[in-house]
Formats: sequence, C-alpha cells, structure tokens
Amino acid sequence: MDRIIIRGGRRLAGRLTISGAKNAALALLPCTLLTDEPLTLRNLPRLADIDSFQHLLNQFGVTTTIAGSRPEDFGRVMTLSATRITSTVAPYELVRKMRASILVLGPMLARMGEARVSLPGGCAIGNRPIDLHLKALEAFGATIEMAEGYVRAIAPDAGLPGGRYTFPVVSVGATENALMAGVLAAGTCHLHNAAREPEIVDLCNLLNAMGAAIEGIGTSDLTIHGVPRLHGATYRVMADRIEAGSYACAAAITGGEVLLCGAREDDMAASVQALRDAGVHCEQQGEGLHVAADGALRPVTIATAPFPGFATDMQAQLMALLCRAEGASVLTESIFENRYMHVPELNRMGAHIETKGRVAIVHGVQQMTGADVMATDLRASMSLIVAGLAAAGETRVHRVYHLDRGYERLEEKLALIGADIERVGGD
Ligand code: EPZ
Repeated sequence: MDRIIIRGGRRLAGRLTISGAKNAALALLPCTLLTDEPLTLRNLPRLADIDSFQHLLNQFGVTTTIAGSRPEDFGRVMTLSATRITSTVAPYELVRKMRASILVLGPMLARMGEARVSLPGGCAIGNRPIDLHLKALEAFGATIEMAEGYVRAIAPDAGLPGGRYTFPVVSVGATENALMAGVLAAGTCHLHNAAREPEIVDLCNLLNAMGAAIEGIGTSDLTIHGVPRLHGATYRVMADRIEAGSYACAAAITGGEVLLCGAREDDMAASVQALRDAGVHCEQQGEGLHVAADGALRPVTIATAPFPGFATDMQAQLMALLCRAEGASVLTESIFENRYMHVPELNRMGAHIETKGRVAIVHGVQQMTGADVMATDLRASMSLIVAGLAAAGETRVHRVYHLDRGYERLEEKLALIGADIERVGGD
C-alpha cells in the first residue's frame, strides 16, 4: 500500500484547480439509469469512488466511455448509456466497497419497477443505516422487502403512485434516492425536511435538464411531478466544496495563501465563516476563492450540521488547523457517531485534543512534530496531511488509499503550491 511523505514547514502559495465534487458525481452517475438516452457528465473527478461506481453501473449493462483528456487535465468527460439494462441487482462484493452504491436503488426502481441492492453495511465513521431511504420510497408507494442481506424495492405495474414524506433526520443520500425514484412516478411526490446540500441542488438541476419537473430546488421542501420519461443530457459536475475547504485549511496552517479556482463561497459559506473566525482571510474573486493567513490563528467553537450549517466533512480538516490556534477550540460532531478517528493520530503528532462523546476540545499547541500516522477514513486522512504540512520534520501517512477515494491527485496539487510531499509505494 502507498504512503505519503510530507516534510513540513513550507509556506504554501499559488493557484489550485478544484476538481468536480465527489459527492455530487456519485449522485449524478446513477441518473443514467433513468433514461435510455446517453448522459454525458463533464468535470468528473478522477477518483477511486468514481471508478467503483462506473464498474457498478457496467454490471447493469450500462456502457461508459471516457473522452480523451490530456494527462495534465483535471477531471474527465464520461458518456453513459443505459439503453438496455441487463440486471437490476447491485451485488454485495461491489456495494460493500462503497456505500454510495445504495444510490442505484431509487433510479433502478423508477426505471425498471424493481431493484435489489445489497445492504451497504457501516463504515469507519458509523453504522450508516438506510432506514430513511426505504421509508421515503415506501411513502411514494414502493414495497420494500429485506432478505439475505439485500433490500428489494418493488413498484406497482403502473409506476410509483407518489406520496408525501417528512424526514425525521436530514439525510443527503435518502433525499437523493427519493428524488431519483420520484421523477418517473405516476403521481406527485413531496419531500419535507429534505437535505439542501449544494450536491442535492446539482442533482435536481441535472434531473430537470433531463426533463424532470422538480420544484423547491435548494429548499427543504421538494415537489417532484412525475413524468413518463426522461431524455439524455450533458451536464458539468459542480466544484468540490469539501476539497476546496480542505486545501484552504492546508494553506492556512502554513501561513500561506492560495486561489482555489472554481470554488464558490455560496457552496461553503459556513466553512468560510469558520475560517474567518479563526483569523483566515477569505474572499471570493472571479475565478475562485482567495484564502490567506498570516500565521496567527484564533480558536473557534462550532458544531457540524446539515447544510447550510458547518459540513461534517470539513470537521477533521478544521480540527487539524485549530491545533495551531492560540487557545482552546470546541468542536461538536452532530452528524456521525464516530468521526474522531483522526484525534489519536493528531495527538501522536503533538496535538492536545480531548474528546468526550461528540465534543472535542482542541488545545492549541506551538508546534507539532512529524510522525508515522495511519489514515482511517477519507476526511481523517486529509486532516493528517494538513497537520503534516505544518509539523516539524517528516510525517508519513500510511494507507493513503482512503485519500484516493476523495482527493484527485492530492500530492500533485499540494506540490504545485510548494509542499514538500511525495507518494511512495510498498507500505
Ligand atoms: C453523504 O453521506 C456524504 N456522502 C457524506 O460524505 C457526508 O458526510 C454526509 O452525506 C453528510 O453530509 C456522499 O454524498 C456519497 P446522510 P450520507 O444520509 O448520505 C443518518 C465524505 O467524506 N441516517 O446525510 O450517507 C446517518 O447515520 C462522505 O465525502 C439514518 O439514520 O449521509 C447520519 O447520522 C462521508 N438513516 C445522518 O443521518 C438513513 O437512512 C446523515 O447521514 C440515512 C442516514
């Protein structure tokens, strides 16, 4: 297994291209199942999770072609065609590798009238249930059966009649599955307390570009008027707001400055506010978000929350930055029950972080020191990279395959702005 070696202490400065958003792309890819016409997605990030999803779609008989792109280009153009669907089953061996595979349930049900998907199981940050996905589909008229570790959803022959569902907990994935199930319903579907993340807006915009009739986009009340069929489309994936926030923390911890090309403050306002509260300068410019720090960092008190609140996917990276603040920060992880896997690794680098349940107290320290550290999940891995950029000496991050799931050519991008970083194989 590869590892990444960072020699900390370099001030980062320059321009970075922000790639297409992983969490938008993973919701846009399954939309191909909703039509027999070609769907072309531009600005798709080169990520392990995207490759896994492509492989899963191929299992259903979806053909996928990647347009030629130069090696130096970020992102790819993929055309997907679900003219003939040869299977409606998402098998365990594929779903267990990537829980976002559950996002084929809604569109496959809508297009084929039934879908059978292996239960995703949990992951490092929590048990990740799918009960809300299933309750929303049932509210729209689907029959749900569970057997042998698989969930099976069946629609009436005339299609889903439609209905109304209020989420008791905001769920990004359940909102996405419900949207993709509702667009081809025989009736109208209503969602309340739906997720409002920018990735949901991206999905709604693609679906409407394919001929869907979704109202309330960007709000927590969505109305989906079912239509008989959807057509193909060409669509550009939004920029990755979490990648942008991650590199903002990386530049800031080194007292540097970076122009995050493609990043939009509107997509990440709570993260930008947290950075400003910490003393980091952030300003939206034409091409992207300009981020600059002068070295002095202030402590921050913040809790993760559904959009427009502070994104849980930014918690670990902000925590790494706050290890260098002058004072104690208080972070509360409200979304997932086990998202502090990065804490023991950061403490091994000289951080002083105490956790009690969902609360973490981050006591700022003068200096961190490089160490051998273990990546455990995607965003925890990025927090170790952020810390390593400012730590004295060498940090070796092991099991970086976690990073490859969500950060396109990470070490190339960081080297471009001055980091002393390299990837070595054979862990
Ligand atoms: C999406 O996961 C993202 N993944 C996650 O990003 C992100 O952390 C999360 O949304 C929250 O923003 C993708 O988009 C591929 P949820 P998702 O359903 O949809 C509970 C990353 O690092 N819940 O919004 O799985 C759940 O346990 C990843 O890029 C239920 O109880 O998240 C959690 O506590 C990590 N029942 C909360 O809701 C359900 O049926 C929010 O989960 C579904 C969720």
